[in-house]
Amino acid sequence: AKTPTTHQAIIAIDQGTTSSRAILFNQHGEQLHSYQQEFTQHFPQSGWVEHDPQDILNTSLIATKTVMEYAQANSIEVLAVGITNQRETTLVWHKETGEPVYNAIVWQDRRTSAFCAENQEYAECITAKTGLLLDPYFSASKIAWILNNVEGARAQADYGELIFGTVDTFLIWHLTAGKVHATDTTNASRTNLFNIHTLDWDSELLEWYDIPAKMLPEVKESADDYGMTSTTALPLNVPIAGVAGDQQAALFGQCCFTPGGFKATYGTGCFALLNTGTEPQKSNHQMLTTVGYTLHGETYYALEGSIFTAGANIQWLRDGIKVIKSASATKALAESLEYDHGVVLVPGFAGLGAPHWEADARAAIYGMSRGTTEAHFARAALEAVCYQTYDLLTAMSADSVSAEAVWVDGGMVGNDWLCQFLADMLQVAVLRPKTMESTALGVMYLAGLQVGWYKDTQSLQQYKVVDKKFTPQLDDTTRSMLLTRWQKAVAATLAFI
Ligand code: G3P
Repeated sequence: AKTPTTHQAIIAIDQGTTSSRAILFNQHGEQLHSYQQEFTQHFPQSGWVEHDPQDILNTSLIATKTVMEYAQANSIEVLAVGITNQRETTLVWHKETGEPVYNAIVWQDRRTSAFCAENQEYAECITAKTGLLLDPYFSASKIAWILNNVEGARAQADYGELIFGTVDTFLIWHLTAGKVHATDTTNASRTNLFNIHTLDWDSELLEWYDIPAKMLPEVKESADDYGMTSTTALPLNVPIAGVAGDQQAALFGQCCFTPGGFKATYGTGCFALLNTGTEPQKSNHQMLTTVGYTLHGETYYALEGSIFTAGANIQWLRDGIKVIKSASATKALAESLEYDHGVVLVPGFAGLGAPHWEADARAAIYGMSRGTTEAHFARAALEAVCYQTYDLLTAMSADSVSAEAVWVDGGMVGNDWLCQFLADMLQVAVLRPKTMESTALGVMYLAGLQVGWYKDTQSLQQYKVVDKKFTPQLDDTTRSMLLTRWQKAVAATLAFI
């Protein structure tokens, strides 16, 4: 192994849904320093979720400044900045003053659900062009909502005074003091305005949503020249060299560079992405087709499936119905039961995501007896996310390639029992890397490729260290019994809507 170069580093800014983080990495992908700051979530009406754009900016600047000062105090030269972000979240601001016309409308916000429901006859055409569904999740209907509902916005947009961006674009614009209005292909591919075949904004979709083309950012590669940081708020003059949406950045950070590379991030929800190669693969199972990354003129695509609640199920057990004391207690509780314990939780707390996309489904628990305890709840909650991942992977493999292994990250996968059960259900090895910060690492790699730290994706493999590998062990009969029971429970839950 080479000696880490600690005199040079790259800063990865990870602007997430609940907090902003900055991590200082050396060339070996080791974290030298990090800083994180949470910010307020706003829920002005039922189903609405907003962020104050100033909070997004300030917390990102504070985090970046903190790790930058650490670098300076330790004589570490910062070579570049990479930006990864919560995707789809929508901002519109004045191109001269930077003043936002409205709060950021967050990806979780459902205010445009009636519009999407009423226009489903266009869904097929939208899916063919964008790889996505016609759903409030994506940016386009949120931009249209701002233009149609914020006083004066439509006229200002028509005059070319307003610009749009997802969070990456908003941060780039501010970090370059308004000089650069750009995004990358991964973030663009989440807007419902980007044609993933031509890799350009789609004029028909812009017309359909009634969004002026001049509002949109320039689309660049994921490793590219995004200008120099040059804001007075951050005394740093380095290139912004890598940009990717957070789930795609995690795919890159997990080194899933070839078809069959599969990663699953288990946070509040779970986002699973399968690299399907350089041609977009259409899904017949309601998976999303999305850009994985664009590098050196080549675009890799991915299929994506999301599970709306993963870690949130455990939070519900702990904070909602208070049957467990801590998330870490779930491992011992799960281990205390046999496979035939008989309880199944279908965690549709926020509806069921892919492959069902049933927003109106609700959670259900089956198979309880007088002997049911907190152990059953804990085990059923852990089992459920593994069954759901099985459903996603089965659908994706039917649409495209099989996964060669599953690279996992996120808070939940510290639980060895969960990782083993996941391997047992998926029938492929589950690999947990040593560096769990795959998202930040991914965008650091992209920036590192751009500034010449790394030659190619192949050269990144040497920095990958597996913390633990879980191989399938469960016998087929037990596995089939469990999966059949799960499928029956899902069918009953869907029938209950
Ligand atoms: O699509 C939404 C996703 O990018 C949000 O990720 O980690 O900020 O919850 P996260």
